[in-house]
Amino acid sequence: MKKGIETTLRQVRNIAANTTSNKSTVVPPILHKPAKVVEKKADVQSRIVLPEKMTGFDIRQHIPAGPVVKNNSVTAHRALGMHVWDKDNRKYLDMTAGIGVLGTGHRHPYVVDAIKRQLDHIVLSQQAMFFSHTIQDEFVEKFLKYTPGGKGGGVAKHDTFVFTSSGSEATENAVKVAKMHTGRPNVIAMNKGFHGRTFAAMAWSASKTSYKSGFVNPTGGVYFCHEPTPEALDLILTHQSAPHETACVILEPVQGEGGVNQIPKATLEYIRKKCDEHNIVLIYDEVQSGAGRCGKFWAHELVGVEPDICAYAKAIGSGMPLGGICGPKQFFERLTPNALGSTYGGNALCLASANATLDVIEDENLLDNINKMGKIIADEVRNMPHITGIRQHGLLIAADVDPEVAPIGRVIKKGVDEQALILHSCGTNSLRIIPSYIIGEQDVEVFHDRLYNILKNLEKEDAFKAEGSKVM
Ligand SMILES: Cc1ncc(COP(=O)(O)O)c(C=O)c1O
Repeated sequence: MKKGIETTLRQVRNIAANTTSNKSTVVPPILHKPAKVVEKKADVQSRIVLPEKMTGFDIRQHIPAGPVVKNNSVTAHRALGMHVWDKDNRKYLDMTAGIGVLGTGHRHPYVVDAIKRQLDHIVLSQQAMFFSHTIQDEFVEKFLKYTPGGKGGGVAKHDTFVFTSSGSEATENAVKVAKMHTGRPNVIAMNKGFHGRTFAAMAWSASKTSYKSGFVNPTGGVYFCHEPTPEALDLILTHQSAPHETACVILEPVQGEGGVNQIPKATLEYIRKKCDEHNIVLIYDEVQSGAGRCGKFWAHELVGVEPDICAYAKAIGSGMPLGGICGPKQFFERLTPNALGSTYGGNALCLASANATLDVIEDENLLDNINKMGKIIADEVRNMPHITGIRQHGLLIAADVDPEVAPIGRVIKKGVDEQALILHSCGTNSLRIIPSYIIGEQDVEVFHDRLYNILKNLEKEDAFKAEGSKVM
C-alpha cells in the first residue's frame, strides 16, 4: 500500500481512537493551503451522546415513505473514514460512500480542516454575485490541470466553468448551454443512463421507470439510443431527430445507476465523429464516474474520447454540495444574461472542500489505490455464491445477484441488519459497490467476509420470489 494512503488511514484511525480532548482551532492568518497533517483530536465520545430532545423521536413518521426505502432501520449519528455509527453506537462499514460522494471518506481530516478554515473567512460568495473569490481562483487554477481537452483528442481545452449545487443542476446547465450554443431543440440520450431527478434531468434519464413514473411527459424532444451502438444513433438521426434539430448527445461514459455499463470505445468514437460533423454538442455526465471514481480522473480517459461539455458533482466536493460544468469558452459565448445561475453555485465553502479534495486525491495517490482495491474487490466477489456477473471500473463496481434467489433489496437489508454493512443497488438486480477511495485492504477483507455471509445464506423463498426482481 502507498505510503500516503497509509498516512491518511492512520490519521483517520487515530482520530477515531482518540476520545479525549477537543482543542479549539486557531484561526490561520492566511486563507490558502491548510496544513498537510491535521491531527485534531475529535471529541468523538461526547458526540455519541444524543441531545435529550432527540431521544425517542421517530423521524420516519415525518418523511414520505417512498424515498426512504434504503437502510431505513439506521439513524446515522456520526461517521469517519469508511465507517458510520448509528445513534446506538453500532458501527457500519460503508460501501456506498454516500452514493459515490465521499471519495476521500467520511470527514477526511484534511478536507474538514480546509472547510473549517474557510468558515473563518467567507462562506457564501456565489458565482452569480461576485465574479470570483480567492478560494474559487485557487480551485480553478488547480482544476484546470484535470479538465478535458488539449491532450491531442481534438477538443479544445475545457477552460470555462459554471458551478452548481448538485449533479442534476449540472446536467441541466450542460444541456442549456448546448441549446443556446446550437439554437436547436432536441436531446439524444442513452438507454439506462441517469442524469438526475429534477424535471428536465429526469427526462433524459432511462435507467429505471421508477424515476419517471407518475410524471407524464416531463419535457419533449428527447430521444434514446436503445443500445450503445453507432447504428442506434444513426436510427435516431435518420428517423427521429434530424441533425440540424439536435442540440446535444448526453451520456455517462460509464453508467452508474444503470448498472456500471461502459459505453464502448467504438461507439464513443462514432458519436464524437457524428457530433463534429453536424455541430452537435457532446456532453459527458461524469457526476458519478468522474473525480477519480473509475481509476482515472475522468472515466472517459479510459477510452480517450473527449466531450465538448463535462458535468461533474459528487466526489469532487467530498460531501459538500458542489456540481458544475466545464467546456471550451466558445460553447458559452451565446449565453445571454440570466440564462444560467444558482444561488449557492460556486460558494466558497464547497469550493474549499473541492480544493482540498484535489490535494488529497493527488497527495495520497488515491487513483492507484482505487485501481488496486477495485480489482481485489471484484476478483473475490466474482466467485461468491449467486453472483452471476460483475463489471468493474476502478471503485465503481456492479455485482449481479441472481434474481431467482433474491431481489437486491433483500440483500441490502440483510447487509445492514445482520452484517452492519451498508450497500447500494444499480441496474435491475445488482449491488453497486462504490466505497471511498481511501479503502484499505483490511476494510476489503471485512467487506468480503460480510458479503459472503449474506450471500451464502440466501435461499429461495417464495415470499421474496413473489417480489420478482424489484429493485431499490
Ligand atoms: C450520473 C449522474 N448524473 C446526475 C446525478 C444527479 O445528481 P444529484 O442527485 O446531485 O442531483 C446522479 C446522481 O446519482 C448521477 O449518478
